[in-house]
Amino acid sequence: MADKDGLKVQKNYHIDVPFKTNGNLHVKGAANLDWGMKKHLTNIFNPKTGNTVMFAFDHGYFMGSVSGLERLDILIPQLMDHVDVLMATRGALRTCVKPNFKKGIALRVSAGSSMINEDLSHELISVDIEDAIRMNADCMAVQTFIGADGQLSSIDNLSKVINAGNRYSIPTLGVIAVGKNMERTAQYFKLATRIVAELGAHIIKTYYCDDFEEIVAACPVPIVVAGGKKLSEKDALLMAYKSMQGGARGLDMGRNIFQSNNPVEMADAIGKIVHKKFTDKEAWEYFREKTKK
Ligand code: 5RP
Repeated sequence: MADKDGLKVQKNYHIDVPFKTNGNLHVKGAANLDWGMKKHLTNIFNPKTGNTVMFAFDHGYFMGSVSGLERLDILIPQLMDHVDVLMATRGALRTCVKPNFKKGIALRVSAGSSMINEDLSHELISVDIEDAIRMNADCMAVQTFIGADGQLSSIDNLSKVINAGNRYSIPTLGVIAVGKNMERTAQYFKLATRIVAELGAHIIKTYYCDDFEEIVAACPVPIVVAGGKKLSEKDALLMAYKSMQGGARGLDMGRNIFQSNNPVEMADAIGKIVHKKFTDKEAWEYFREKTKK
């Protein structure tokens, strides 16, 4: 068993060398998966660009009616044609999203947290594989706390969802969570993303940080970037641009869309960066043009 002291500092990321074992699919690490998995991943990652704009509104599973999500039945119909994937709980989808939504579904399947006790690191699997199949989920999202007190239980949750998903060809999205006392460092995210990928997750969601391109290079599956706390639209578009430039295959933003005064235009501006190679400055100009009074 390798001990920590014996581990050499990683250094050869070959940043400029494309992933070698991609086979015939536009999704990193998916070459050896079966048809059903590839179909679900193609519902998530646009075959033309290989990228995705996920709109995350699963916050209610532990935050309740967080600002901006007070009325999903009003907000989601406005946004659904402007994103590639909806990331949501089964409760939100069944009550507030019409089943005529033709794009990707990232189904939140872990739960157990709330803003009351603030310990977000002890979750359980709340949605079984049969309900994920009923929901026609294109991936199942599991919160994974590496380095926090809930590490073992969250890795157990992740592994159970991956095992069930592999039985029924539904990919797993490993959501890298950061405990409130943990630092968002490149070293932490490098460790967490690689562990979750090695455990078998097919997509990983993490946060942007310094040396992000090394995190991407060391991760054998696609990374999408969460927006995190609300920023100014300009700063959020800069973070989106830096994420894509660093090798992310998309953004999975929530608060930076639904807490914007112009969520539709914000989603479109992110889409310009993700699918049309806009710079942050071009996307910001686009957003200003679309929102000027
Ligand atoms: C909430 C989540 C969200 O899906 C994720 O954090 C993206 O949302 P935001 O951009 O608001 O951070 O995992 O638990």
